Amino acid sequence: MGFLEFKKVYKVYPAGVKALDNVNLSIEKGEFVFLWGATGAGKTTLMKLITREELPTSGEVWLERCKISSLEDRYLPILRRNLGVVFQDLKLVPHWTVFENLISPLLVLGVKKRDAHRLAEGILDLVHLQDKKHHKTEWLSGGEKQKLCLGRALIHRPHLVLADEPTGNLDGATALGLVGTLFEFSERSGATVIIATHSEKLVNRFPGRLVVLDKGKIIQS
Ligand SMILES: Nc1ncnc2c1ncn2[C@@H]1O[C@H](COP(=O)(O)OP(=O)(O)OP(=O)(O)O)[C@@H](O)[C@H]1O
Ligand SMILES: [Mg+2]
Repeated sequence: MGFLEFKKVYKVYPAGVKALDNVNLSIEKGEFVFLWGATGAGKTTLMKLITREELPTSGEVWLERCKISSLEDRYLPILRRNLGVVFQDLKLVPHWTVFENLISPLLVLGVKKRDAHRLAEGILDLVHLQDKKHHKTEWLSGGEKQKLCLGRALIHRPHLVLADEPTGNLDGATALGLVGTLFEFSERSGATVIIATHSEKLVNRFPGRLVVLDKGKIIQS
């Protein structure tokens, strides 16, 4: 069995929208995957089934040999500890410094302060924000905030990183840089990375696997 498996997954939302239509997908450890598809294709829905923000209407989702589609709620924190999720709505605390925002997930996990600081230094290098370490987050540009979000999603060294349109409305060069950072992280740590995007340009610039969703169906994998 693969690292991540979707088996005959259907997702029909209450209003009757069929967001995922018999999705079968197997992803290996360390793969770098682009999930590509038009608006409404089901990309975010597929990711929400992995984070367990949503449950499938039918079918199974497995991660690291654990059937997460029927995981009891009390185990969700353990599932999520192994995920790095890059949100589009940034969820940063504006009056905290870059450093404070960065280490906050580690402190929540009970990581010792000295270890948290060491990990944060590594991430500041990775996302190229070393010179902004003590800046207030609200002073950052949009692209810098996005880098910080990315750093915060990676700092606890997740096994699986989910990035839903992480490049939002960034310019081409900044977007490439951000995806490049994810690629470097995957190479270095062996993490599996899944990036949902509409951007054909991005997909063509990295040697990742392309999974194409169209109206809830996987048409290329
Ligand atoms: N909570 C919900 N309730 C009802 N319908 C929903 C819900 N979330 C998503 N949908 C519908 O499911 C379909 C797939 O949505 P989804 O957000 O997964 O697409 P997407 O590929 O991420 O699109 P985008 O590229 O615009 O982000 C769409 O038709 C959407 O309107
Ligand atoms: Mg989406």
